[in-house]
Order: sequence, then structure tokens, then C-alpha cells
Amino acid sequence: MERTLLIIKPDAVARNAIGEVLRRLEGEGFVIRELRMTTLTQERARAFYDVHRSRPFFADLVEFMTSGPVVPTVLEREAAVTHLRKFIGETDSTQAAKGTIRREIGTDVQCNAVHASDSTENAAREIGFFFSDNGS
Ligand code: RTP
Ligand code: MG
Repeated sequence: MERTLLIIKPDAVARNAIGEVLRRLEGEGFVIRELRMTTLTQERARAFYDVHRSRPFFADLVEFMTSGPVVPTVLEREAAVTHLRKFIGETDSTQAAKGTIRREIGTDVQCNAVHASDSTENAAREIGFFFSDNGS
């Protein structure tokens, strides 16, 4: 079964929506395999979103992602990567389809409640980024 990484971002954690996000995911058939709460340092946030380092929104993105705790979660499901990307909705919460997590819980193009891996290769890398220890 395929695995992917979801992060509940600081905006959703701050509005007490962790349970709501997880409920929606479980209701859609995703099985939660790993979960933790952590606060990213600037260095870790920059590394995670390194692909965007030249984009105009990069500094704001790093500031946002370090503004409070996040909840990285490993999810398992058939076609998990593509299904999750579709299920969370478009990047901009104001443009995301009704019923999607980003539309219902996010606010705008930056504060969009969740991150999801965009390929199986990136899913493996991102799962390792948060869950490479032995959990002790
Ligand atoms: P993500 O990586 O978080 O799952 O989001 P995504 O693939 O849908 O979008 P991406 O282009 O990878 O952007 C990463 C995150 O950067 C913030 N962003 N801000 N101000 C802006 O124009 C802007 N554009 C993107 C969002 O938090 C977005 O999820
Ligand atoms: Mg992305």
C-alpha cells in the first residue's frame, strides 16, 4: 500500500483543527501510520521547502511554517499521493473546491491548512525528513 506525507500547518494547529483534519482523512480511507507534533526551525523549514528557495514567497513561507507547531503525519492508502493531493484541494484555499480540507479549514494562498507530498519520490524523502529516527 502506498504512503505519503501530510503536514497539518501552523494555521490549522492554531485554530484547533488537528482533530477535524484527521477525521476527514480517516473518513476518506487514509490510515494514519505515523504522527508527531514538532516546531520547525528556520533551517529545517528552509530545507523542507528548498525547491521554492528562489520564489518570491519563500521568506514568508518559512516564517509561516515556523510560526507554531506542525503535525507531520504518514498516511497509507491505495494511490495515496495522488488521492491526497486531490482530496486537500488547490494551493489557494479561496480557489479550492468546496468540501476540500484547504477550502474548509484554510484561509488563503499561504495559510492553507495542510501540505501533501506531490510525488512518490518526494513522499519517501519527506517521510524520512520527519520520521527517520526509531521513535524512542
Ligand atoms: P504544499 O507543498 O505545502 O503541499 O503546497 P502546494 O504543493 O499546493 O504549493 P507549492 O507551490 O508547493 O507552495 C508551497 C506553499 O507555499 C505557500 N505559498 N505561498 N504567497 C504565495 O503566493 C504562496 N504560494 C504558495 C503555501 O503555503 C503553499 O502551500
Ligand atoms: Mg508543494
